[in-house]
Amino acid sequence: MTSAKPVFNFCSGPAMLPIEVMQQAQTELLDFQGTGISVMEMSHRSDIFISILNSTEQNLRKLMSIPDNYRVLFMQGGASLQFSAVPLNLMSEFRRAGFMNTGYWSQRAMAEAQRYGSTVELASAQSSNFKTAFAAGEVDIPQQLDYVHYTPNETIDGVAFTEIPDVGDVPLVADMSSCILSAPIDVSRFGLIYAGAQKNIGPAGLAVVIVREDLIRLDLPSTPRLLNYRIVSDQVSMANTPPTFAIYLANLVFQWLLRKGGVPQIEQHNIEKAALLYGALDRSKLFYNDVRAQYRSKMNVPFFLREETLTPVFLEEATQFGLLNLQGHRSSGGCRASIYNAMPKAGVMRLIEFLEIFENRYA
Ligand SMILES: Cc1ncc(COP(=O)(O)O)c(C=O)c1O
Repeated sequence: MTSAKPVFNFCSGPAMLPIEVMQQAQTELLDFQGTGISVMEMSHRSDIFISILNSTEQNLRKLMSIPDNYRVLFMQGGASLQFSAVPLNLMSEFRRAGFMNTGYWSQRAMAEAQRYGSTVELASAQSSNFKTAFAAGEVDIPQQLDYVHYTPNETIDGVAFTEIPDVGDVPLVADMSSCILSAPIDVSRFGLIYAGAQKNIGPAGLAVVIVREDLIRLDLPSTPRLLNYRIVSDQVSMANTPPTFAIYLANLVFQWLLRKGGVPQIEQHNIEKAALLYGALDRSKLFYNDVRAQYRSKMNVPFFLREETLTPVFLEEATQFGLLNLQGHRSSGGCRASIYNAMPKAGVMRLIEFLEIFENRYA
């Protein structure tokens, strides 16, 4: 950091990475552990890269307590390509999947799945303007579904489930792009978990897939090779050249998280940061968040100004103050602070300080 004032990046993704990770990557960039070359320049078939890949998988398994009957796949195309891969692999018996509609990303997943089979909207939060999620047993699950898909954390509207939905014996599929590794979860409750890396894992483009073994034998004949979980799994994420540097960086993030005490520890940190920020918004007369309190996301905190014309002024002045990328998603406007694992409490405190300064000046 060369600037005199602290800079905090609240981007929703690609998001900030832990400073220690960036420094380690910088130190190792030109010469990885005495090899004389960068990880970026190494054969993916070399012993040294294969040991990085194995270590990345083992560290993720440790962090999430992933049971042995689940495979971990490192794939490409971000989370969005999983919107296609999931139906192409899992929609085999009934050609029908159920979706919980909690906003933008769950809708995108459902729209893509529709290209491969039929989709059923099991529940929709539209009537609340996507300010709510659903309780565990609130959604009825019909028979004859290949899977049920949901988005535990809707990144744009800042809405999060508090419990894993109860779907009986139907495999549950979760897009955990914006909440993976932020709090402990029981992986055995899921058929499949996927996440784009660029929030809590590492560089954009990489996607992590955690899939129960018995679900990866069901691929449709037309499934492209690189989207076929069976092939990717059999070839240990090397069905083609994997995103080697992104995998290496993900491993540095996993190691950082393990040093911090793992997911239960980071969850406490996340709870504290979110409580501080929502507390400040709730005290404010100018700023507000209108998500139903129990479903407020601890990762993405959208907020609005009661005097809307002040929004661009706020964003401009926040940038000057060193608080970057606070603009809301283009579909919803307003502001949004993404406070993933890597955001230190100091960043949240600095944002709260600026909210108060701005309010005192303009309200
Ligand atoms: C919940 C969720 N799903 C999917 C995506 C899409 O991810 P990608 O751009 O990696 O395809 C995002 C991106 O922000 C997201 O937040």
